[in-house]
Amino acid sequence: MPLVTTTEMFRRAYQEGYAIGAFNVNNMEIVQGITEAAAEEKAPVILQVSAGARKYAKHIYLTKLVEAAVADTGLPIALHLDHGADFEICKSCVDGGFTSVMIDGSHHDYEDNVALTKKVVEYAHAHGVVVEGELGQLAGIEDDVNVSEDDAHFTDPAQVEDFVTRTGVDSLAIAIGTSHGAYKFKPGQKPQLRFDILEEVGRRLPGFPIVLHGASSVTQSDVAIVNRFGGQMPDAIGIPEEMLRKAASMAVCKINIDSDLRLAMTAAIRQYMAENPSHFDPRQYLSPARAHIKELVRHKIVDVLGCAGKAE
Ligand code: G3H
Ligand code: 13P
Ligand code: ZN
Repeated sequence: MPLVTTTEMFRRAYQEGYAIGAFNVNNMEIVQGITEAAAEEKAPVILQVSAGARKYAKHIYLTKLVEAAVADTGLPIALHLDHGADFEICKSCVDGGFTSVMIDGSHHDYEDNVALTKKVVEYAHAHGVVVEGELGQLAGIEDDVNVSEDDAHFTDPAQVEDFVTRTGVDSLAIAIGTSHGAYKFKPGQKPQLRFDILEEVGRRLPGFPIVLHGASSVTQSDVAIVNRFGGQMPDAIGIPEEMLRKAASMAVCKINIDSDLRLAMTAAIRQYMAENPSHFDPRQYLSPARAHIKELVRHKIVDVLGCAGKAE
C-alpha cells in the first residue's frame, strides 16, 4: 500500500468516535518505534515532520524512512507536514511526496490566515494532498516561535464555518487550552480544557475532523527516570489521558504527540547510559530508546486514542 491521505482515516475515526495518533518523527529509531507499535496493534497512523525535523534530518531522509515503514508494515500511513509556516514549505512538501500538509496561519490576522490557507489548499488539492488549517493560538514553543500564555487565544467557534468554507481545508486545528512542550500547566494548576468550545465547533461543523495539538500527557514515570538518572526536569504537567479520550470521542480525529516521544527516548537513554557507563556503541542505547517509544505508542493507541484494529 502506498502512503495515504487522512481522508478515509478521519471519516471512519469521526464516525466511530476515536482518534488517529499523529506522532512527530526525526530519525529512524523514532519512525521504527512508532510504526512497529502501530503494525502490531493494526492501527492507522500519521507520521508528521516539522520544519525543525526537516532541518535536522533532511526532507529526503525522512520521506525515505517513512516509505520504508510503509513497505515494512503494510499499514495505512499518512506523511504530514507539521506547522507549515508559509506557502513555500507547504509546496515543497506537496512536491516532495507528503500526503498531507498543515498551513499554520494562526499567527496572522483572520483575513490573512484565510488567504494563505486558501492558497495552500488550492495547490495541495490540485496535487491530491490534504490540508490542515489552524484557528486560535496555542501557548508554547513551535520551532522558533514562542507564544506566551498571555498571547494564546482560544478558537472562536463563531469563525469556524466561515474559515472552513472559504479556505476548503480538510481538517482544522483548534485551541482549547492545550499547549506545546512538557510544561503545559503551572505547578499546582489543575489541567483544564475548554470542551465547551470543542462541542460548539463540532455542532457548527458536523462530520468535520478537528485536530488537537499539544496533546502530550508528559508521562510522569519518564520524568522520574530522567530525574533519577541525572536529569533536572522541573514539575512537568501534561494533558490528562482521560481528557484525550473524551476529545477523541467528540469531533477530534487527530491527536498530536511529540513531547511524550522525546521524553520516552531521553529517559531510556539516560537510564541505559547510567547503568552501562562504559558502553559507547549507539546501537546499545538506541535499542532501548526505540523499544520505549514503541511501548509508549502502543499505550496511546490501545488505551487512549482507541484506534487499535482500525487499519483492518
Ligand atoms: O509542535 C511542535 C512539534 O513538537 C515539533 O517541534 O519544531 O521542535 O520539531 P519542533
Ligand atoms: P506536544 O508538545 O504536546 O507533544 O505537542 C505536539 C504537537 O502539537 C505537534 O504539532
Ligand atoms: Zn502542534
